[in-house]
Amino acid sequence: MTSPSAETATSTAAPSSAASRPAVLVTGANRGIGRATAELLAEDHHLLLAGRDEAALDALAAALPSARPVVADLTDHEALAAAVEGLELPHGLAGLVHAAGILVNGGVEELSVADWERNFAVNVTAVSELTRLLLPALRTARGTVVAVNSGSGYTSTGERGAYSASKFALRAWTDALRQEEAGHGVRVSSVHPGRVDTDMQHELRAAEQGQYEAEKYLRPASVAAAIAYALHAPAEAVISSLEIRPRAIG
Ligand SMILES: NC(=O)c1ccc[n+]([C@@H]2O[C@H](COP(=O)([O-])OP(=O)(O)OC[C@H]3O[C@@H](n4cnc5c(N)ncnc54)[C@H](OP(=O)(O)O)[C@@H]3O)[C@@H](O)[C@H]2O)c1
Repeated sequence: MTSPSAETATSTAAPSSAASRPAVLVTGANRGIGRATAELLAEDHHLLLAGRDEAALDALAAALPSARPVVADLTDHEALAAAVEGLELPHGLAGLVHAAGILVNGGVEELSVADWERNFAVNVTAVSELTRLLLPALRTARGTVVAVNSGSGYTSTGERGAYSASKFALRAWTDALRQEEAGHGVRVSSVHPGRVDTDMQHELRAAEQGQYEAEKYLRPASVAAAIAYALHAPAEAVISSLEIRPRAIG
């Protein structure tokens, strides 16, 4: 078995078959930041497009040079395990990008136990469980895990406590995993965007009762470029954390 190193993922040549391309799994691949990441990496990677929206993932996979859908709800642990079991990764997994996430908005007074549970289930527990399932493949390829965090992984404000708590927890998780996996050659990056022009931002601006100013926000493709920077870092380096913020907001 050959084990492509991190340098393999930096190759600019466009290999033709799935087996000759470094494999990268992206969650949330059907829309938003995950989709932009899949589109950016498509030229020289084999993409495993994870998500719930089978029709959208099929259409995206058909439009990319080398991609296949991985259909599962991230909070359905049995379905997720079955989907991972079905993956063919002869050279391991060069990258795992956790782009799926949810925004649970609201203050302590109004949020229910169910709100807290789904918030942590998607933003933290599913990230850890999917990574655990894929660790053998990540170790084989000396791969890179990228968790899409947020500015809310560093600061917390009113009405956003649940979301921030999950992103603080996600940052704690990435720091722990980075240490645990260093000896196995797996590196772990935490990418923290500010406001991005996606469906989630529409939800947030509606909750804030603010005007939607797309031109002031990051484009999903810009965040994808930051994720690719972490994935393609020189072999001896790890981008432990990276903040990317909209220039117009600061
Ligand atoms: N947008 C921003 O301003 C912003 C800023 C900082 C950080 N972030 C972070 O960036 C990441 C991506 O955000 P985005 O703006 O791209 O969000 P988005 O456009 O709302 O997309 C969210 C993605 O997560 C997927 N997802 C949610 N729950 C899932 C579940 N249970 N199982 C499988 N997939 C699930 C969605 O799939 P479905 O289509 O099936 O729902 C969708 O693909 C999130 O972690 C978010 O916290 C976003």
